[in-house]
Amino acid sequence: MSTNTTDNQRKVTTLRLAEMKARNEKIAMLTAYDYSMAKLIDEAGMDVILVGDSASNVMAGNTTTLPMTLDQMIYHAKSVVKGVKRALVVADMPFGTYQGNSIEALSSAIRIMKESHAEAVKMEGGAEIRESIERILCAGIPVMGHLGLTPQSINKFGTYAVRAKEETEAQRLIEDAKMLEEIGCFALVLEKVPAELARRVAESLTIPVIGIGAGSGVDGQVLVMHDMLGLNKGFSPKFLRRYADLATIIDSALKNYIQDVKDVDFPNENEQY
Ligand code: KIV
Repeated sequence: MSTNTTDNQRKVTTLRLAEMKARNEKIAMLTAYDYSMAKLIDEAGMDVILVGDSASNVMAGNTTTLPMTLDQMIYHAKSVVKGVKRALVVADMPFGTYQGNSIEALSSAIRIMKESHAEAVKMEGGAEIRESIERILCAGIPVMGHLGLTPQSINKFGTYAVRAKEETEAQRLIEDAKMLEEIGCFALVLEKVPAELARRVAESLTIPVIGIGAGSGVDGQVLVMHDMLGLNKGFSPKFLRRYADLATIIDSALKNYIQDVKDVDFPNENEQY
């Protein structure tokens, strides 16, 4: 067995992600929200599976991530963990479960870890949530940061447009990223920021920087599973590459099934007892 095969079968940990960055190996990350898809994604060799609060959009049909509750996140994360053997499973901390104060943040993170068995949490924000992140880190819970377009702040931004195009916001992002590394976050997601800024941040940090709409100069990429598999027909931002058109495939399968039932073609003799 080659070293590479052995390595590909090793459980992904936060330490392993740091090793990947050190040897310039890109990190592949994708969201999942349920057991069956998580199993497929893990078996395909994904490094990190994010139980994103994008579940609020793609699973529950909400227009923002804000309605996601801690109980709902734990439910999704628990289902995902059961399907995963190799990937690192990271669960999003939902809106309102960590911004109030650091004690509340810690108890939310502990519930996620204890009840779902996820291996890390992700939190949106920089200096303004530093105390909460530090308290969670002190409890031995790995934290992935998230800067740039942070969807939980959509009502403050008022738009899903690219963030940090202006110098002041770019400078604040650079400082927040440095701070997140210094206090001990194991990785950082940068969402929808200029590629050049993302490259600068990734080059200046030793922790892995995972981009979504942040160009190729970062240490890895993350996408929402429904978007990259073509389940979300109406969502086509510039940064998205569709790897399948599952909406069309599913539509055709469903129509064939309906027709077969109507025609009494299904079930046939071999499909009954
Ligand atoms: O919730 C989510 O899916 C995310 C990714 C877009 C990074 O936070």
